[in-house]
Amino acid sequence: MKKYLVIGNPINHSLSPNIHNHWLQENNIEGVYDKKKINQNEIKDLISEVRNNKITGINVTVPFKKEVIPFLDKLSEEALVTQSVNTIYLENNKVTGHNTDIFGFKHSLKFTKFDIKNKKVLILGAGGVVPSIIYALKKGGASNILLSNRTKSKADELKKSFGNLDVIGWGTLPDFDMIINATSVGLNKNENIDIDFSRVKKGSFFYDVIYNPKETNFLKTGKNLGAQVLNGKMMFVYQAFEAFKLWHKISPVINEEVLRLLD
Ligand code: ATR
Repeated sequence: MKKYLVIGNPINHSLSPNIHNHWLQENNIEGVYDKKKINQNEIKDLISEVRNNKITGINVTVPFKKEVIPFLDKLSEEALVTQSVNTIYLENNKVTGHNTDIFGFKHSLKFTKFDIKNKKVLILGAGGVVPSIIYALKKGGASNILLSNRTKSKADELKKSFGNLDVIGWGTLPDFDMIINATSVGLNKNENIDIDFSRVKKGSFFYDVIYNPKETNFLKTGKNLGAQVLNGKMMFVYQAFEAFKLWHKISPVINEEVLRLLD
């Protein structure tokens, strides 16, 4: 029986086991996917278990996407550039770290009429998922990427790694085509981002990385302004899809049944 894990802290909220166990069964793969809350000092031993084939694959979530890197033998190009790993497995005898959040973000946009090419995009936040979003936006040909974080120094750090970004003060709202909430504000239903969005132009696109709750106040605001909105559900589904594909060399099916597992 093959063993897969998602590790993080906290981890209780993770829906990765729901989706991966569904796909394992559907594809008649003998395996089980669990979640495990860990502390930093447990990372090394867990990764050794991948090397010894005791664990076949690991997904990594907040706050360990960067912390796992020193224990890996190899990184994919995308994981290297973003310094963010969410999928690990033994590839040609090397414990390799991949980043499937980039694929997740890119493919989530397939469900919209929005093409990021030549668009001006404002990202709120500078946490774990932001390097992956910046990478995907750059590849997709966004014309400007603006970054705003409550703690400005973290946005400045990202500018050092990516260059070609404009860091703007928290609360400043320039003109944009797309705005992405990549902060944790909204995970609790009543939370509000302390920015006045009332003068945002019509026809913009509000994207929230959060998918639970389904509609954050940020997305409600976007809707009320007549903007196109999207939550993080399809990004989550597609990062899982790509991880499954890397591990099993099978493209799993995404359908209504799969999406209902995440409601
Ligand atoms: P981490 O920073 O550990 O990677 P994260 O959940 O990925 O965690 O990121 C949290 C993001 O939400 C950060 O950008 C954080 O801003 P700070 O860097 O200033 O902490 C942002 N955030 C959290 N609470 C916020 C709040 N009340 N207002 C604005 N931004 C907030």
